This record gives sequence, structure tokens and C-alpha cells, in this order.
Amino acid sequence: MIAYINGKFIPKDRIAISPEDRGFLFADGAYEVICSYNGNLFKIDEHLERLRRSLGELRIEGPPINHLRTVAEGLIERNELSDVHAMIYIQVTRGAAPRKHIFPEKATPATVYANASAFQPLYKERENGITVITLPDIRWDRCDIKSVALLPNVLACQQAKERGAVEAVFIRNGFITEGSHTNFCAVFDDQLFTHPANNHILGGITRQVVLGLCTQLGVPFKESPILENELKNADEAMVLGTTYEILPVVQVDDWQVGNGTPGPITRELQHAYRRATTS
Ligand code: PDD
Repeated sequence: MIAYINGKFIPKDRIAISPEDRGFLFADGAYEVICSYNGNLFKIDEHLERLRRSLGELRIEGPPINHLRTVAEGLIERNELSDVHAMIYIQVTRGAAPRKHIFPEKATPATVYANASAFQPLYKERENGITVITLPDIRWDRCDIKSVALLPNVLACQQAKERGAVEAVFIRNGFITEGSHTNFCAVFDDQLFTHPANNHILGGITRQVVLGLCTQLGVPFKESPILENELKNADEAMVLGTTYEILPVVQVDDWQVGNGTPGPITRELQHAYRRATTS
């Protein structure tokens, strides 16, 4: 596999990163995950704009966005992924410098890494739906930054797996925020609800696409947090993310959502999403 590191396309197993890289020492960086559908980098502008924003919030001077677009396209081409479903990963860190909490000297270049790989979507889960567990949201107050510091997310997702679920959904002050690596929404009386895109969630690109589809399809929606206690009254629920697209949630902890099968609004959105990624 050919990957990209600091200006070069080289085999991934030949890449060496300094042990003093601040991504390694401090999780001092940001990242993006982008899906490519037969060579079409879905919503790449939105992903790169979010990366620019994340880096800006972290005060990391990253490469120009246009350069990253060329890198993503170059990886698809060099790895012969133009005819398949693929995933691009891009990470930018504050670079390598002797370990000190304060920023390194201005001249320290950011580390820019990217790879591309073929990707097998979760077809079965997309069709049948998934179980999620709920956990307290122990993350910081800047979940809007797509930082590589993902330890609470990693621990939550692992706990979900160990309990036979696919995703963990976080609860903060009694409200559902989002999943460990997805956004969450639920349908009550034909209206879709999802947490507002503030500092307590990552403003997902899939979430944004889905809200656009709601408008197109005439599905009313509200960006308003869902109370954990009210979730049991939901008719449908789903998690959203770049690699998952739209996964129906049919069970939360030990109880069923609606009648325990993916609901009609979820299905309508899945079909519309499919059309958006193939057009
Ligand atoms: N995760 N919320 C969190 C905490 C996420 O990590 C992600 C994405 C999302 C969904 O965002 P988007 O629709 O832009 O993918 C929401 C990526 C895919 C990951 O960490 O692998």
C-alpha cells in the first residue's frame, strides 16, 4: 500500500515517524476520514474544511487544503482504488520536537500523514440494525474539534463491543450527545431529533448530509438534544458516520427501539443517502 508522509508517496511499511512526534507524545493533532465511492471522494470539500477548522482551533499550521485534496486523489490513483469503495485517512500533528507541553518553535513543520484502503461496508448491520449501549460522556468540552485524542471514545467503543453492541452512545447531563465515532438521531412522531452541532459533539459531515436529505424529503427535523429518559418513546433511532453511513439502531442497552426493526424514515434516508453517494 502506498501512503503519504510529509510530501512523499511511499510504501506504508517504509514510513517512519519520530518518537518525539507530538501526535505520539500528546495526541497533539487532528484527523479526517473520507469515503471514496468508485473514485468519487464524497464531500471532500466539507471534510477538508472541517480539518482546516480543527487545526485552526488547535493552532496547528497545517498544509493548504488544496494540497490535501491532491494527496487524497493521489492515494486513490496510486493504490488503484478508483473502482471500489475506499477510505482515506488524513492526520496532521504539531510535528516532532523534544517533549515539552508548550508549543515547539514556529519553524517545526507539522507532520502530515495519509493513507487509503479498500473498505468493506457493514451491509448486514445497515440492513438489520445494531445494538448500542449508553455510557456517561466523560469527554472534554471541545468535542467539535476532530482531535486524535480519542481515549474516552476508544474505551467506550471497546466496552460496547464487549457487551455485544456496535456503538456506545454518550449521555451528558441527562441528554444524548453522540456516539463514540458517530452522531446519533432519533425519530419521535415522524420528526427527527439530533443534538445541535455545538462544542459537545463533532459536527458530522454525514449528519449534515442527512439533515439536507430531510429537507429534500420533507422530513421535519429539530437540532435539539434528546433526553435519555425520553429515548424509550422514540419510534426509530440511527447512528451516522462517514464509514457507517446510516445504521439503524434497533436496541439500546436492554430494550428495543420501536418494534425492534429499522423504521420507515431510517429506510427512506438510507435510500436517499445511497443515491447521493452514487450520483
Ligand atoms: N468518526 N462523532 C464522532 C465522535 C466521530 O468520531 C465521528 C466520525 C462522527 C461522524 O462524523 P462524520 O459523519 O463526519 O464521519 C461523529 C470517524 C469516521 C472516525 O473516527 O473513524
